[in-house]
Amino acid sequence: MNSNVAQHRWWHGAVLYQLYVRSWLDTNGDGYGDLGGVIDRLDYLSWLGVDGIWLSPTMPSPDDDWGYDVSDYLGVHPDLGTIDDMDRLIAEAGKRGLRVLLDLVPNHTSSAHPWFVDATGSRGAGHRDFYVWADPGPGGGPPNNWLDATGGSAWAWHEPTGQYYLHNFLASQPDLNWWEPAVHAAFDEILRFWLDRGVAGFRIDVAHGLYKDAKLRDNPPETATGPMAGKFGQKPVYNANQPEVHAVYRDWRRIAASYPDARLLLGETWVGDLSLLARFYGDDDELQLAFNFPFVFAALTAPDLSGVVAETLASLPAGACPVWTASNHDVGRFPSRWCGGDERKIRLALLALATLPGTMVLYYGDEIGMTDVDVPLELQQDAMSRGAGNGWRGNRDRARTPMQWDSAATAGFTAEQVTPWLPVGDNAAVNVASQRDDPGSVLRFCRGLLSLRQAELGGQIAGYQALPGPPGLWAYRSGSLTVLGNFSGRPVVCPHPVGAVLLSTIGPAQPAAGGITLAPWQGIMARNPDAELGD
Ligand code: NOJ
Ligand code: CA
Repeated sequence: MNSNVAQHRWWHGAVLYQLYVRSWLDTNGDGYGDLGGVIDRLDYLSWLGVDGIWLSPTMPSPDDDWGYDVSDYLGVHPDLGTIDDMDRLIAEAGKRGLRVLLDLVPNHTSSAHPWFVDATGSRGAGHRDFYVWADPGPGGGPPNNWLDATGGSAWAWHEPTGQYYLHNFLASQPDLNWWEPAVHAAFDEILRFWLDRGVAGFRIDVAHGLYKDAKLRDNPPETATGPMAGKFGQKPVYNANQPEVHAVYRDWRRIAASYPDARLLLGETWVGDLSLLARFYGDDDELQLAFNFPFVFAALTAPDLSGVVAETLASLPAGACPVWTASNHDVGRFPSRWCGGDERKIRLALLALATLPGTMVLYYGDEIGMTDVDVPLELQQDAMSRGAGNGWRGNRDRARTPMQWDSAATAGFTAEQVTPWLPVGDNAAVNVASQRDDPGSVLRFCRGLLSLRQAELGGQIAGYQALPGPPGLWAYRSGSLTVLGNFSGRPVVCPHPVGAVLLSTIGPAQPAAGGITLAPWQGIMARNPDAELGD
C-alpha cells in the first residue's frame, strides 16, 4: 500500500475499538466512566495495537437511552467531561496515532432537545417540521400500525397540538423528519463542527432508518424468522429502509472529503439482506464502512461463518471495505454469544475476525475475553430493554458493565468505595492487570494477533479465498496468509499445505499424514506455501 492510499483510506485493514465511555474508567469518583478515563488509558490502546476508537455517545442527553437521546449535538455530556476534555482527548489520541470517531444520532433527538421543545409549542412552530407529525388514523387512534423498539405503537399523542408524533424508539426519542431540508442543513453543520475539532469521523446510529415512507403506509407482517427479522411480527418496510437515505450519505461523504485528511463514515446499517448492505457503500461515494449484522448473528460454525463471508464479499462493490465485528452494546459480547465463555472458542473467533480482509472492530473487553454479565433486574439501567419484554435478546446492560482492569471489587474501574453504575462481572482472572503479565493470556494472544495482522495483511481489503475441507474446518487464504480453524469439538485433519506457522490459538500445530491435525476449536495462522505466494 502506498502512503497516499494509507492516508486516504486509513481504515483499510485497521482495527477500530468501540469504547463504551461510561464503563471504561471513572476518574472523578461518580461511578461513571468519563473522557478523563479515556485519555488515561490511551497508552493501553496503543499498546494493544488499535488504530482508532469509536466513543459511544458523548453528547448531552437525559439518558433515557444512555446518550442515544441527544439534547445538544454540539456539546459534551457533563457526566463525561467538557468540550475541553474532548479537544484534549482528540489531541492526545492524535499524538499516539489513534483516530477518534464519535457516535452521531441523526434518526431522532431527545424530546428535551430545543428543536422538539419548540416543535411542540404550536403547529406553526419554526421546528415543527423537524419531526414527523400526523393526524389520527381514520377510526381515531394512531395514524398507522408502526411499532417502536419496545413493541408499543411508534406514535405518541400530543394533546396540546392535537397530533401524533413518531418515535421508532422510546417516546422520549422523537424521530426527525428527513423530508425537511432544514434538518439536512442542521446536520451538515453538526458534522462540520466536530470534523473541524479533529474527529476522524462518525459511527452513524440507525443509518438505514432516517427516512420514512412519505405516505405513512402500514408495515406488512414479518414472514422471516431469525435475529434479523422485524420485531413483534412486523416487517419494517415503511418506517425505515427508504432509498432516499443514500442521498444524505452522498452529501455527508462530500463533507468528509472536503477535509484534508480522510474522515470516515461508519454506518450502523441494520439490514439482513447483504445486497442492501452493499448499497450503503454507493459508488464509493456514500459510507466507507457499513456494519455487517448478518455476520454478527451467524452461528460459530464453519458453514455459517464461511457462508456469510462469501456472500458478503460477493455482494460488496469492488473496492469496498468489509467490516468484521461480533460484539457491541446492543447485541452482547461474542465471548458469551458465540463461545459460551470457552477460551478456545474466544481465541478462534478473534483469529477469524483479525484475518478476514477489511476493518476489524473490537468491543471493549473483547481482548481479555470479557463475557456478558447477568445484571439483575433491579440493577439494570437500560429503559429500552427493561421495558421491551420479548423485544430484545436479554438485557443490553449485560454487555455494558465496567471494563475489568484488575481483580479488585470495583475492577480498577473506579475507587473501591464507589458503587459503579453497573455491577462488575467476574473479574478474578478476566482482567487486564493479570493478563498483561501472562504471556499465555487471551490479552497477550490478542495483542500478538493484531501485531501479526498489521505486519502480514497491512491495509488489505480483498484477497480472501475459501479452501475446501472436512466438516468443522473453515480454511481460507487471506492475502499471504493461510488460516485454518476447527469449528468443532472433534479433531480435524486439514489437507492443505501451509508455509511457516505464525500463530496457533492453543497448543502447537500438529503435522500428520496428509495434512495438519487441528485439536477441537484450534486455529492456526500460517504463511501460504511458497508455491502459492502472491495468490
Ligand atoms: C442503536 C444503538 O446502538 C442503540 O443502543 C440505541 O438504543 C438505538 N440505536 C436508538 O438510538
Ligand atoms: Ca466519572
